[in-house]
Amino acid sequence: MSDSRVPRRRRFLVCEPRHFAVQYAINPWMHPDAPVDVGRAQAQWQALMRAYRAHGHTVETVEPVPGLPDMVFAANAAVVVEGRVFGSLFHAPERRPESLPYEAWFKSAGFDVYHPESVCEGEGDLVPTGRWILAGTGFRTTREAHREVQEFFGVPVISLTLVDPYFYHLDTALFPLDEENVAYYPEAFSPGSREVLARLYPDAVIATGEDARAFGLNSVSDGRHVFISPGATALADQLADRGYVPVPVDLSEFHKAGGGIKCCTQEIRS
Ligand code: ARG
Repeated sequence: MSDSRVPRRRRFLVCEPRHFAVQYAINPWMHPDAPVDVGRAQAQWQALMRAYRAHGHTVETVEPVPGLPDMVFAANAAVVVEGRVFGSLFHAPERRPESLPYEAWFKSAGFDVYHPESVCEGEGDLVPTGRWILAGTGFRTTREAHREVQEFFGVPVISLTLVDPYFYHLDTALFPLDEENVAYYPEAFSPGSREVLARLYPDAVIATGEDARAFGLNSVSDGRHVFISPGATALADQLADRGYVPVPVDLSEFHKAGGGIKCCTQEIRS
């Protein structure tokens, strides 16, 4: 069974955590008074980069900007589908300046960047899957932005409402395993959205609250290997039973900012 899962090589965009810090609180994980070890964060991040490269993925980097401590969370800067870039408009004023250096990177790499009119935090809330884009709302990205995303890509957008402030971005509560299936934590969603997910993904991997609080849903899958927080042990066991290969990578220093593996990773889909 485990040989039936086929990996697809990915192109990732990331930002080194040179200026990483917790200086403000825009989600319940963030406590500006608690210390952050930047050296440890750098070492953890480098281990993630090594894991990606060791599994055949390409990693490109945006130069970090001093004074933008959350810039390491590259996933929030855009969502890219079929080589088209839908940029970001951050909810928090502290993060708004991040859009510019990412846009500059995309432009220099030959991409045009669409500017959303409504608050939109890229892959934090927009999760492209095989046939549609799953879109989170409730804390950051607005429903108006979901309409803009659908209009821009011409791909169906399925709006899902998040209800737990600890899971303020869709990518903290759900991740795609491959084109066909997802893993998620039902309690992070409104009752109606839970029903939508159950209809779309009757065979989904259902995570526990413990998995979710360990940032287990903030994972990156290449279709076979799942780069996952080592704290999400029950979820990793379920994935292994389904023929996926969990690759544990500890980003615990980033959990202090409310982020994990997926948050640090923007996928450039061609
Ligand atoms: N401190 C950041 C924020 O609250 C963390 C972002 C995490 N990124 C993500 N894709 N969930 O905006």
